Amino acid sequence: MNHSGGRLYGIGVGPGDPELLTLKALRLIRSAPVLAYQSATDKESIARKIVSQYLPGDQIEVLYHLPRALEPEKATSVYNKETEAIEVHLAAGRDVVVLCEGDPFFYGSFMYLFTRLSHQYDTEVVPGVSSLMACPVALGIPFTYYNDILTVLPATLPKEVLASKLLSTDAAAIMKIGRHFSKVRDLLHELGLIDRAKYIERATTTQQRILALDEVDPDAVPYFSMIIIPTQQRL
Ligand SMILES: C[S@@+](CC[C@H](N)C(=O)[O-])C[C@H]1O[C@@H](n2cnc3c(N)ncnc32)[C@H](O)[C@@H]1O
Repeated sequence: MNHSGGRLYGIGVGPGDPELLTLKALRLIRSAPVLAYQSATDKESIARKIVSQYLPGDQIEVLYHLPRALEPEKATSVYNKETEAIEVHLAAGRDVVVLCEGDPFFYGSFMYLFTRLSHQYDTEVVPGVSSLMACPVALGIPFTYYNDILTVLPATLPKEVLASKLLSTDAAAIMKIGRHFSKVRDLLHELGLIDRAKYIERATTTQQRILALDEVDPDAVPYFSMIIIPTQQRL
């Protein structure tokens, strides 16, 4: 359906390496009159940093804030308010490119804008290289073979839930680790998975670090970190 107003783009910018952008993402990022990006804190947006070298310098920029771990009641009003700043430009007929780390529809903050704006404005989503794909490659470990089941788990889940999911899968990615690191590490010891598990932070960036789980300082685990448990090689 054709709507009036500007067009909304949700663009995946990949996990960190500026060369892991698609050609389509690059074209749209360079040509958009308005660039929007999210930050969970007041610090620089990671998505903007990834593409900064490609920006022409004459675009309108909109920084919107979506704090992490909001309670659902508070989240709705925050998302509604932050969406308004972007809608102003769409209503005025200006296309808006929203930058998203990794892929926009894989735990991406863009989805909150999509649900609020896509019924009213023409919207296009450009997939990106997700951290789910980038981390095993950066670690150099084949992840899944043949009929393997892969399970993606937010570390924020209760320990019992993580345990039951880990026991019924061949391979797993554990995301959003941060302050949940010790709980996950202890569980992996209990389940006998510690030797298969690999830890990586800020994959594909110049600050990438790969550590054995027992070497990680639990108080210094960044949000952009992941634990990968590859399948067991059977060939
Ligand atoms: C809100 S999700 C966003 C995922 C993103 N849309 C994607 O496709 O990669 C954030 C989580 O993704 C993971 N993540 C994103 N980028 C990463 C990176 N460069 N290195 C390690 N983990 C990363 C972390 O587990 C982090 O807690």
